[in-house]
Amino acid sequence: MHASLHALTAELKRLKASGVKSLPVSDASLAQLRTALTRRAGIRPAASTPPAVAAEPAVGPEPVVTAEASVPYKAPERTFTVKPAATPVPAIPAPVPFTLPAGDKPTRWAALRARVLADEFCCAQVRPGKQVVFGVGSLDAKIMFVGDAPGAEEEVQGEPFVGPAGQLLNKMIGAMGLKRADVYIGNVMNWRPQMPVDVSGVQYGSRPPSPPELAYCLPYLQAQIAVVNPALLVALGSVAASGLLGPGTFKTLGEVRGLWKEFAGKPLMVTYHPSYILRNQSNQSKRLIWEDLLKVMERAELPIAEKQRGFFL
Ligand code: URA
Repeated sequence: MHASLHALTAELKRLKASGVKSLPVSDASLAQLRTALTRRAGIRPAASTPPAVAAEPAVGPEPVVTAEASVPYKAPERTFTVKPAATPVPAIPAPVPFTLPAGDKPTRWAALRARVLADEFCCAQVRPGKQVVFGVGSLDAKIMFVGDAPGAEEEVQGEPFVGPAGQLLNKMIGAMGLKRADVYIGNVMNWRPQMPVDVSGVQYGSRPPSPPELAYCLPYLQAQIAVVNPALLVALGSVAASGLLGPGTFKTLGEVRGLWKEFAGKPLMVTYHPSYILRNQSNQSKRLIWEDLLKVMERAELPIAEKQRGFFL
């Protein structure tokens, strides 16, 4: 139910941003929402509260609830339903131990990639037409960026950070005087955590991975670190940071961002996720993330021009 509410909220925000001011809502849907919200708040529904209805599309004409008078909404109503994964999986298993083959970096990396892309459990987590996502970049990279999980674009293209957050990450890498191909980019998750989809099978929004999901994928990231052997790691955002530092190691990202930590024997810089900057486009927010990246550049012994030091001031 939490996931459904999350998806519904994301969709309502999207519609609002696209100018929609009113939506048709059936009595049954309203009753269902009321029940869900009272449950989330831990309130027992009052005796007069209508019972939750089955998750089926409401039929018949619906009253229009308007926040502002007029502007009727013409798009068809979206009905959210949960589509099963390619293979229904009841629980997240423990990660299966594996050994990397001997050989040079490309051999070991290719074997690891093939293993992850063929991992039956990973494959069972993605819907038809979507892909398990493995890291990309230079096998000689000094810097490895670690994000959380693939999003909508990434699961289609099978590559990390190719959507809007990825475009911004590319710019950040460019500001450091590097190209995307100079660094390595991975995620703590190899699939997009699933949420309810609408009737046409589209998943709106994303949810953070659960601890067992993270635990399943983490050995695959550790193996990528072992193969690439970067000088340092950069965790992008709180999901990546808590995936690497362990659950419960911090309450807010502000406690750990900008600090050097350690993961898999590598120095780890924690900073904000690019999507945070997409939501907070102020120079102040950009400067915070940039200061963290300056520390990364110093530690990786990259040249830093005076102009770069002053970005976003
Ligand atoms: N956000 C991430 O953390 N990783 C991706 O691959 C895309 C978006």
